[in-house]
Amino acid sequence: MICHEKGVNTLIAQRKSVELDHFHVPWEKITMKMLSLPYRVGILGGGQLARMLALKAHQMGLEPHVLSLSHQDPAAQVTSWWSQGDPNVPLQAERFLSGVDVATFESEFYCAQSLSQAVEKTQVPLFPQPNVMATLQDRWPQKQLLDRYNISTSPYLSVQNRTELNSAHDTLGLPFVLKKRRFGYDGYGTLIIKDKDQFTELYQVFKEDDVGFIAEAFVPFERELALMMIRSRDKSFVSYPLVESYQQNSRCLWVKGPAQHPNFVPFKEKLQEMLESINYVGAIGIEMFDTGDRLLVNELAPRVHNSGHYTMDAMSEDQFSLHLKSILGLPLGDVHSLAPGFAMYNLLGSGQSDPQWTLPEAVYFHWYGKGENRDGRKMGHLNCLASTPDLALKRLTDARRLIQI
Ligand SMILES: Nc1ncnc2c1ncn2[C@@H]1O[C@H](COP(=O)(O)OP(=O)(O)OP(=O)(O)O)[C@@H](O)[C@H]1O
Ligand SMILES: [Mg+2]
Repeated sequence: MICHEKGVNTLIAQRKSVELDHFHVPWEKITMKMLSLPYRVGILGGGQLARMLALKAHQMGLEPHVLSLSHQDPAAQVTSWWSQGDPNVPLQAERFLSGVDVATFESEFYCAQSLSQAVEKTQVPLFPQPNVMATLQDRWPQKQLLDRYNISTSPYLSVQNRTELNSAHDTLGLPFVLKKRRFGYDGYGTLIIKDKDQFTELYQVFKEDDVGFIAEAFVPFERELALMMIRSRDKSFVSYPLVESYQQNSRCLWVKGPAQHPNFVPFKEKLQEMLESINYVGAIGIEMFDTGDRLLVNELAPRVHNSGHYTMDAMSEDQFSLHLKSILGLPLGDVHSLAPGFAMYNLLGSGQSDPQWTLPEAVYFHWYGKGENRDGRKMGHLNCLASTPDLALKRLTDARRLIQI
């Protein structure tokens, strides 16, 4: 009998013997059943992260079940186990969960409370857990969590009204950053207030909002860094290499790595300690500022993350595979880089209706299948391996010119 601890890698080694059996069902199912492992993986959401998770799940012999609004969504296109629905509608989430063995999500901004109830009713586990989702989807408790573990982040204040906006200005000085507490992505919901005129303008149009805001001190960073960490239900842990990420108009344009920082090791240890203390399960993206001598966390994203897309081609095992293993409770093993340098370049839409490209040489091309090509929308990405991070990035900037989107 194959034992649980040996995991998927052992499973792969066992495939041949299972293929000898004359069952009229795919061997992936047989092996998963023999292992008593969950194999129907539910994914809440249908965007590109869900698509890449679903594609990887197929490769691993799992059934990716996707819940999203439209059959044209990127993830809906790549699985026959698609259900139409909204993860924010309690009954729809519940019905979906009751048809899978374990579930995950591609966005942390779903209603954590109703998902928690759906988990309780169906007894189908969701990872990262809804209580973790609730803490990390709101920038205020997220900052408090970082404070509790003594992890540096930029000073912050709550802003609910104009009086608090004024105090933020007085306390933090200019420039400062105003962010929506929830639902921010790709820079939407983040406003950098550079000077007095911008502040006056903001003050005049400022409206109180149910979601609320935080104000952050502006960090004069030298560069932005990012890190993917993954923790499995079996408590094994993987930390991918530190990478540099570059944002244009507050939106990630490229990532290159590996990057170095003198304080990285103790910083990473504190992050790991925090994740272990909250019994985190799944992948987490950690965005950081490097001010030269210091590292500060900008934000945490409790899911697979854009800054980890390079792992698809540059690492021995990618973030999607390890995230799926982590929610199944499989051991994560070790990962290693496949080249001394690597880079990822986002293919951002420009609103041109007909994307056109020739597939560049020596570059890995990933397309998300989005129907609408909107300005700045993430349509796909390129990965490249090279002898140095800079060379990998140079190849990608050259390749990018061959693609019209
Ligand atoms: N306190 C700060 N000081 C300086 N720059 C900042 C600060 N906060 C955010 N920024 C800049 O704005 C960018 C977007 O901010 P943030 O990551 O918080 O928003 P987001 O909408 O979640 O973005 P994304 O989805 O791309 O991660 C950051 O990558 C950084 O370039
Ligand atoms: Mg960010």
